[in-house]
Amino acid sequence: MIRLDKVLAHLGYGSRKEVKEMIKKGLIKVDGILIKNSDLKINEDSKIEIADDEVKYNEFKYYVINKPSGYLSATESNNYPCVTDLVPYHKGLFPVGRLDLDTEGLLIITNDGQLAHNLLSPKKEVEKEYYFKYKGKLNDDSVEMCLKGLNINNEYITKEAILNIINDTEGKIIIKEGKYHEVKRMIKTLGGEVTYLKRIRMKELELGDLKIGEYRELDVEEIKKLKK
Ligand code: URA
Repeated sequence: MIRLDKVLAHLGYGSRKEVKEMIKKGLIKVDGILIKNSDLKINEDSKIEIADDEVKYNEFKYYVINKPSGYLSATESNNYPCVTDLVPYHKGLFPVGRLDLDTEGLLIITNDGQLAHNLLSPKKEVEKEYYFKYKGKLNDDSVEMCLKGLNINNEYITKEAILNIINDTEGKIIIKEGKYHEVKRMIKTLGGEVTYLKRIRMKELELGDLKIGEYRELDVEEIKKLKK
């Protein structure tokens, strides 16, 4: 069961406040009955009507997968398996953003367009953390340069990023944007080459010990934190 005003706000019919207004005005019916109470809880099968137009209500689903290399961050492809194939019933689900074909790790799969939009909006500067293996040399200057912003092929300057060099072959990096091949291009700009890349965190959501190719459903707290 989920609150009527929450469902409608989720579905994009306005903010919670605006939806409450609509309910007060007597514009909403649930299972044919006029509703004046925003607290009302409905279930998946309830028929909602706004000014006599039926609302298509899908329950929101939120999964995290550990993407294997060789899976495409898409919902359909003739050439590769898709990340959504890793979730059993995935009609209407899509990945929140993209990882390269050869990148592994954390990817959110959902049907909540609003959440996806918020997590991907450049304005929100959502943190994404990656573990990588590399060839070449990274040093303290590389860390400084990442903090200041890197000039990528004169195309753009990266936002402040936190580089943590673990040793001569491994590192971690936190970025706040999601440009095409961004981590690989950043490391290349610094004189290295990424040989393995895995996303381990998005905002507060961590990959943890989820095994490669596996998925799990997010719990209420995790969803709340992603929406914050
Ligand atoms: N940066 C990359 O270069 N590739 C990814 O898949 C994600 C971030």
